[in-house]
Amino acid sequence: MKKIVLTGACGALGMQIRETLAGQAAELLSVDISPTPETLLPNERFEQVDVADMAAFAPLVAGADMVVHFAAIVDERPFEELLGPNFIAAYNVWEAAWQHGARRVVYASSVHAVGMHETTAGIGLDAPHRPDTYYGLAKCFAEDMGRMYWEKRGLEAVCLRIFSCTAAPQNLRALQTWLSFDDLRQLVRRAVEAPVTGFATVYGVSANTRAPIRNDTAGFLGFRPVDNAEDWAEALQADSPHPAPDDMNFTRLGGPFAAVPLGESGLAGIRAMSGGDGAPPPEAETAPAAGSNADKLPRFLSRKMGD
Ligand SMILES: NC(=O)c1ccc[n+]([C@@H]2O[C@H](COP(=O)([O-])OP(=O)(O)OC[C@H]3O[C@@H](n4cnc5c(N)ncnc54)[C@H](O)[C@@H]3O)[C@@H](O)[C@H]2O)c1
Repeated sequence: MKKIVLTGACGALGMQIRETLAGQAAELLSVDISPTPETLLPNERFEQVDVADMAAFAPLVAGADMVVHFAAIVDERPFEELLGPNFIAAYNVWEAAWQHGARRVVYASSVHAVGMHETTAGIGLDAPHRPDTYYGLAKCFAEDMGRMYWEKRGLEAVCLRIFSCTAAPQNLRALQTWLSFDDLRQLVRRAVEAPVTGFATVYGVSANTRAPIRNDTAGFLGFRPVDNAEDWAEALQADSPHPAPDDMNFTRLGGPFAAVPLGESGLAGIRAMSGGDGAPPPEAETAPAAGSNADKLPRFLSRKMGD
């Protein structure tokens, strides 16, 4: 492949996948509204651009085979605050990719596109969208746009419905929802290298014993996660109270995002669930690599990581 464009390259997950993507194309063009990462890979170039600004963003896609779109505001906010970064930016990505003849968009979607489904329902990839927030609604919008651009314009898309991607599982909910950094890298690599995808969705969850979803119809991507949150079960259960049977933090796939009023932070609830002692929330963690953030983890995980 000649060129891959990565948006959100400076984010927690963008930083995890830059090297993987750089290994899959002659050129990686990393884009973020934030300033450049401290060091760039040998075949990586960086542009500080707002993806919601079509005039600035679209020319960067010239000559690209794929756009890997990870840029977004990663929390629930009032609709007006998400409109540019999460809705319009997604439109700009698909439209620019099509205008420049790119083959595929790989998109960081989210559990929150289906966050109101019950955790006990065992949903597959055919379950309807049930967003839990405006944030989740933006993911539904982008997924539907991806299907439309495939069906009307032949632009492929793989939408990765990422659950809780962190160095280690951070709370009881993560026994179901954790996606390890290694499994994220495998997921992105597979989405890029799959020969044909048409329009596809896939749940981004590790091989957790308690994974609450089924990925069977995405088998053609070859994503075979290897990590399992169960390795942390004893420590997490020892430190967490047993949830009430009607606690939406646990009864709905979206967890705290399903429980909050529209427009109010879901990450605050995840932070509280993760110990509330300064731990980084799962959906906004900034650790550059597994193992390097033990000081920021909840107390029980710091203990575990320090073993
Ligand atoms: N971390 C998770 O567990 C998780 C779970 C589900 C989905 N996701 C999705 O994965 C993607 C990356 O998440 P993350 O955890 O790395 O979040 P993050 O907040 O760490 O990174 C997002 C990056 O996007 C950039 N950005 C925001 N608006 C932009 C704009 N208009 N133009 C250019 N850059 C912009 C930010 O500067 C930031 O570097 C997001 O789309 C998020 O919705 C993450």
